[in-house]
Amino acid sequence: MKKPKRGISTDLIRHPYQPPAGFDAALPGVHKASTVLFANVAAMRARDWKQKIGYTYGLHGTPTTFMLEERIATLEGGLQSLLLPSGLAAIALVDTALLKSGDEVLIPSNAYNPGKELARNELARWGITHRFYDPMDAQALAEMLTPATRLVWIEPPGSITMEFPDLPRLVAAARSKGALVALDNTWGAGLAFNAFEVGADASVHALTKYPSGGGDVLMGSVTTRNPALHLKLNAAHMRMGWGVGANDAESVLRALPSLPLRYAAQDQAGRTLAQWWAQRPEVAQVLHPAWPGSPGHAHWKQLCTQAAGLFSIVFDARYGRAQVDAFVDALKVFKIGFSWAGPVSLVVSYDLKAMRATPAWQGILVRFSIGLEAVDDLIADSEQALAALNRAVA
Ligand SMILES: Cc1ncc(COP(=O)(O)O)c(C=O)c1O
Repeated sequence: MKKPKRGISTDLIRHPYQPPAGFDAALPGVHKASTVLFANVAAMRARDWKQKIGYTYGLHGTPTTFMLEERIATLEGGLQSLLLPSGLAAIALVDTALLKSGDEVLIPSNAYNPGKELARNELARWGITHRFYDPMDAQALAEMLTPATRLVWIEPPGSITMEFPDLPRLVAAARSKGALVALDNTWGAGLAFNAFEVGADASVHALTKYPSGGGDVLMGSVTTRNPALHLKLNAAHMRMGWGVGANDAESVLRALPSLPLRYAAQDQAGRTLAQWWAQRPEVAQVLHPAWPGSPGHAHWKQLCTQAAGLFSIVFDARYGRAQVDAFVDALKVFKIGFSWAGPVSLVVSYDLKAMRATPAWQGILVRFSIGLEAVDDLIADSEQALAALNRAVA
């Protein structure tokens, strides 16, 4: 009997041609898979998603995501990394993997707000309590810890208000009562300081920001140096299904080689802008960890030479919301938006009184995220928009 020919659709799905092995290029290939195929039943039975010794399922990793995990671990000075669909998901993984009902988590009062909202809502519903602490007072943190405190978050510098805490003292305070320390390393990006040398157990990074660098990818990572802790996080990561797509992983892999250059350039431009603002009579305070007089500047100086291109200014109290809104609306090169570290310079205004229980200063705060445009254009844009601010006052 004549052997039937394979149907064309079968050949189009699994073609017998195999390209030659040994291809190499500047960038790694992109491996996309929900399903991973096994060579035989024995291989399927022997699968192990916990170690990176093979492939089991798209969620547990492909060569593309494994490569990105390894590069992020190296960037952060850690040993293992996990990738998640956003920086916020990375925060949620740490909370959910490391806390249980009856535990307490301490969060800096100036932390990234969605992480605080997670504590106020989901964690509270699961019987996990939280308190907010003043990150600029390590002694007060030490006094707050109880046997129930299992996790302390650290975020240098504070979101929006940019205070740079004394990291070694905060870590020492948490450790004195046996709590784990999770550090949000998004601002430092693995470049400004080493989270593990400071003593953190886990480093969370919104890869959405500098590692992606394009303003077009959402991703997060959790990096550790402790294999047992990694395994705990990895198990929760797997059960939650917080995997990432290979195309997004590829975008970050593509952007990583230029990360140190972009970070340095955005740092330099940010400091030039901060200095320009410090001379302006409209400004009451410049909030930038590298700026002398900014809260925690001495702590930054002890630990870092670099800084993210991110800073805030507080307008003099004579300028109200309407005037500052007029300033922000008049900006042309700066765009209004939240997610920093991309090529486009961004601006957001905040009313401090609505944000902090005890603001150390009054007035409307404007945060600038410096992108990659020419610095002179950013200064000229700020200057022309100040005319709108002053017109709105008049
Ligand atoms: C300090 C910090 N951590 C975490 C995040 C969350 O990152 P994502 O936007 O990827 O959820 C952000 C986002 O702005 C952030 O600024």
